[in-house]
Parts: sequence; C-alpha cells; structure tokens
Amino acid sequence: MERPFPTVAVVGLGTMGAGVAVAVARSGRRVIGVEAGPSEAVRALARIEAATARAVERERLTAEERTALLALIEVGAELTAAAAADLVIEEVPEDLELKRALFAELDRICPPETVLATGTTALSVTRIAAATARPERVLGVHFFNPVHSMKLVEVVRTVLTSPQAAEQVAELARDLGKEPVSAGDRAGFIANGLLFAYLNQAAAMFESRYATREDIDAAMRLGCGLPMGPLALLDLIGIDTARTVLEAMYEQSRDRLHAPAPILGQLVAAGLLGRKTGRGFYTYEAPGSSKAVAEEAAAAGARTAGREVRGVGVCGSGTMATGIVEVFAKAGFPVLLAARSQEKAERALAQLAKSLDRSVAKGRLTEQARDAALALVTPTGSYQDLADADLVVEAVAEDLAVKRELFGTLDKIVKPGAVLATTTSSLPVISCATATSRPQDVIGMHFFNPAPAMKLVEVVSTVLTAEDVTATVLELCGKVKKHAVECGDRAGFIVNALLFPYLNDAVRMLQEHYATVDDIDTAMKLGCGYPMGPFELLDVVGLDVSLTIEQVLHQEFREPGLAAAPLLEHLVAAGCLGRKTGRGFRDHARR
Ligand SMILES: NC(=O)c1ccc[n+]([C@@H]2O[C@H](COP(=O)([O-])OP(=O)(O)OC[C@H]3O[C@@H](n4cnc5c(N)ncnc54)[C@H](O)[C@@H]3O)[C@@H](O)[C@H]2O)c1
Repeated sequence: MERPFPTVAVVGLGTMGAGVAVAVARSGRRVIGVEAGPSEAVRALARIEAATARAVERERLTAEERTALLALIEVGAELTAAAAADLVIEEVPEDLELKRALFAELDRICPPETVLATGTTALSVTRIAAATARPERVLGVHFFNPVHSMKLVEVVRTVLTSPQAAEQVAELARDLGKEPVSAGDRAGFIANGLLFAYLNQAAAMFESRYATREDIDAAMRLGCGLPMGPLALLDLIGIDTARTVLEAMYEQSRDRLHAPAPILGQLVAAGLLGRKTGRGFYTYEAPGSSKAVAEEAAAAGARTAGREVRGVGVCGSGTMATGIVEVFAKAGFPVLLAARSQEKAERALAQLAKSLDRSVAKGRLTEQARDAALALVTPTGSYQDLADADLVVEAVAEDLAVKRELFGTLDKIVKPGAVLATTTSSLPVISCATATSRPQDVIGMHFFNPAPAMKLVEVVSTVLTAEDVTATVLELCGKVKKHAVECGDRAGFIVNALLFPYLNDAVRMLQEHYATVDDIDTAMKLGCGYPMGPFELLDVVGLDVSLTIEQVLHQEFREPGLAAAPLLEHLVAAGCLGRKTGRGFRDHARR
C-alpha cells in the first residue's frame, strides 16, 4: 500500500498538537503547523524545539534525527496553508463551536479529497463533521498524552465516515509506530469511556467516606496492578477536564454512573483542579508539582493498640487458605492449617511445600527460609486444635451457610479474646459475625490471589467490630508485609466495587458491537497502562465468579447501570467460563 498522507497539516500546536506534529515529522512526512496567531506560532515552534531537544537529551532521538524532523515542520498562522495537506489533524481546545467553525473553514479551503480529522476527546465527531460538506472524509483521531510515549490511537468513525478514509488514517497511525483501534462516535470512545466511569465511582466512594483517598488509591494499585490510583489520576488529568468528559458521557448515555460525582463540581468551583493548581484530591508541593504533601490529620491519628497475636490458625485447604498459611509462616508465625480432614490438611501442606520450592528455584527464598517456614506449619484435621490460636482466618468455600456454620463451630472452640477473620470477597462479614456470640471479635481480611505475591489486604470492619480488633489486624498486616486498606462491610469492598462495574461496562461495549474484544483490551493496556485488558482479566478470573460479584453488587446498590450484561450471563449459561474451561471471551483451547 502506498504511504498515506505525505503532507499533514496540524492545526493547534498545544500539548497534543505539538506532540502529533513531531510524531508525524519523525515518519518523514511534511508537516504544516497552524496556530491561532503569529505570536502563538512563534511560541509553538519554540515548544517543539524544546521538546525535541529534551528527546535528544534522553536519547529518544539523535541530534541528526532532530535536525531532519525540524526541517520537515513549518509553523504559521494562516489556515489557508492547510490547503496543501492531504490530511488535516485538528488539535485546538475542546470547544464544539470553535471546532465546528474551524472545520467549516477547512472545508472551504481544502480540496475535496483532503481528509479532515479532529483530536477531540469528548465532543461529537458527527456534529463536527456536519459543519462540512464532506462528512465521509471527516473522522476522529484520538492520540494520548504524551504523544511520544503513548502507543494508542483511537480512530473514530461516524456513521458517515468512509471505511477507506478510516483505514488510511489507521495506516498512518501504524506508520507512526502506534497501535490504532477502531471506535464509533460516542463520548469517551473506548479507553476514556471505560476509564472515566470508573474514576467517577472512585470519586463517589471517597465522597461517601467509605475509605480514605490513600486507601482507595493503594487498593487499586496493589489489588489490580494499575499504574496509578484513581484519585491521583483524576488530579493528574485535571478535575475540570474529567468533569467535562463525564458530563458529555452522561449527556449521551443518561447512565447515572456517568453523572459527575458532586465532589468533582465542588472541587472545580473551589478552583482545586488537581496537580496543575497544586491541589485537588491531594495537596501538592506547588502548582504543577507531582509531589503530594502529607496532611496533618493523617500523621496525627493515634490508634487504639491491637491485641497480641502469637499463634495463627487458618481454616481451609484451597488456594487462598494455602497461600495465607504461606504468608504467616514466612513472617515467622506458627500456623495451624486446619482442614475438614487430616488428609486434606496434609495435601494442602504438600501444595505449600511446592510453592515454597518454586520460590527457592526462582531465587526468591533461601533453602533455610523455606525449611524454617515449613517447620512452623502444623496440619490438622480437627478444628479443636484451634482452641489456643490468637487469630483464626477462615478461607473455606464462598457459601454463607458453610461460613456461618464454621463461625458457630469456632465460637465454641477458640479461646475468648481471639480475633476471628473471614476472607470472603462477596458475602457480608456481619453475617459471619452474628453466627458467633462475639461479633465484636469478627472482621474481614480480604486477601488477593495469589496471596503470597499480592501485597494488598482489605481490612473490613463491621458495625460491631471492636476498635482493638481492627487495630490488631492492621498491625498484623504490617508484620506479614502486606499493605492494609480499611473499609466498611458492603458489597465489593474497595477493589471489586470499582473493578467489576468497569469489567461489566467493557462487556456492554462488546455486546453493543461498539468495539471488538481485541480493540477494547488494546485500548485499556496502551491507553491507560493497565497490565491486562478487561477481557483478558475476565477470562482469568472466571466468568462465573465475575457474574456472581456483579450480581452481588447490583443487589446491594440497586443501581441500574450495575446490572450484569446479558452477554456475560449467556456465556456463563453456555459453560464458557474463561481459561478454566478453555473458552470465555477468547478461545484458549489448544489448537
Ligand atoms: N491534553 C490531553 O491529555 C489530551 C489527550 C487527548 C486528546 N486531547 C484533545 O486534543 C485537543 C487539543 O488539546 P490540548 O490539550 O493539546 O490543548 P492545548 O490548550 O494545549 O492546545 C490548543 C492549541 O490550539 C491553539 N489554537 C486555539 N485556537 C486555534 C485556532 N483557531 N487555530 C489554530 N490554533 C488554535 C492554541 O493556541 C493552543 O496552542 C482537544 O480537543 C483535547 O480534548 C487532549
């Protein structure tokens, strides 16, 4: 295929436009830059020169490459210069009337075959295209900031865009070393459409004081491996920008989960726009700084002292139980591994030994440390042996009747004053607590799988949990090198309440034929830096497990937007449960 678009005009050379101009020139194409006026043009060129000089310093570019690419870029203040381009990319501020007027003028200036692309984030590409007499040659091309390092480009087609124009722009994106995905014209497109709904829920969670900003952010980083927590990310994006994008999304979807959380409006009204103003959800050292300053309240908080924990018991013999035993034993705690039979306990111990051996083989654990950890674990088939434990962690089947029965049993056996913890991910901790005569001693410790590797523990206090019980578990998490976050006893805790609605939104996007599985996964990995795309994650977690969590969330909050997507229900009904059955959103069967 012939190289598309040998000459590209970029109108508006701010944050995005300057980055796009450089990327295009790097591919050897001629770039006609157009700014609002002569002084803006001078400043824009200076910005491009400075940015490319930095790239040379950081060895992303050689001095020769810089000279060559700068020679390809001209910057002026006359829009008529765009007439010589094969493609015009518009990157002016996010204002519909400004963009429509610009497109109407470009339509008059440019030959009829010129393709016109808008860089909008949240405005309707269709409405911008309607300002021209060539809507079939108008589309969206959504780059991500910073353009030089972000690989994703969303190529946005309206109902009128010709497939050929879209394919040529995708080809150009590939030529710039980017990965194009194809999206329809909907506020937020793929990546922001999924991202901002989630950010909004995180803001609402903070606003309702369900958890602190630090705990919400740490939970999503450590529980999901995200590069940044949602509130820190909102500060980086700009609270005003986020609010505008959400308004646009709500306008189209009428989904209440897209209606900007009231706290966003309050922050905007107060001029607290995030990093750029020095304060948003966090306070920064100075406007523009990325360094958040600790606030006094957080530093001052003196807590009740916890209870002493020497011996630990873990009930269960599955993946979580075995992993949790490993965590405690490696930290030097004697652990009773209590299963329904001695045989099951022994088998779990063998699993644990295997896991420790793997760590030794990978050089993460010494042989002595492995032997020491194993020596601390005693397998037992009798819960009676838990009588003297200071903490018992329950990790049996995710079934309320089973858990309540176990808590009733523990209540009769375990000494008074011991802490009883459940690892449930979706059942109410309080229902476990009320199966005992000592609900004040019962708490949730939500570990993540695999427990030895995942740093996060959600510490879930019920309305009846005693303060020193919460303190005990928080202290203990520190001792076993886990990062504890605190939250209340409601469906999903922090991580699942923010993660699963996002996964459900992704399924809905697919179900509506808005984008493909591959494009959605690519968009989230390359546009947001997520370690896995939503469909990869769903297939790993299991579609049945995901469906259950979504149903629990919907049942708890009764929010229409949280209802599980029918496509997920259908796949579960068909037995497509993800990796474990060989088929989920993707086919994992060996060919
Ligand atoms: N900043 C981001 O993270 C980001 C990411 C993806 C997409 N976008 C979108 O990209 C577009 C540009 O955003 P930005 O962040 O680069 O904005 P910006 O404010 O940094 O830059 C806009 C530039 O356009 C110039 N300009 C204004 N009116 C003009 C006109 N009539 N003709 C020519 N130039 C004009 C301004 O002088 C300025 O240099 C917006 O639609 C935005 O939503 C931004």
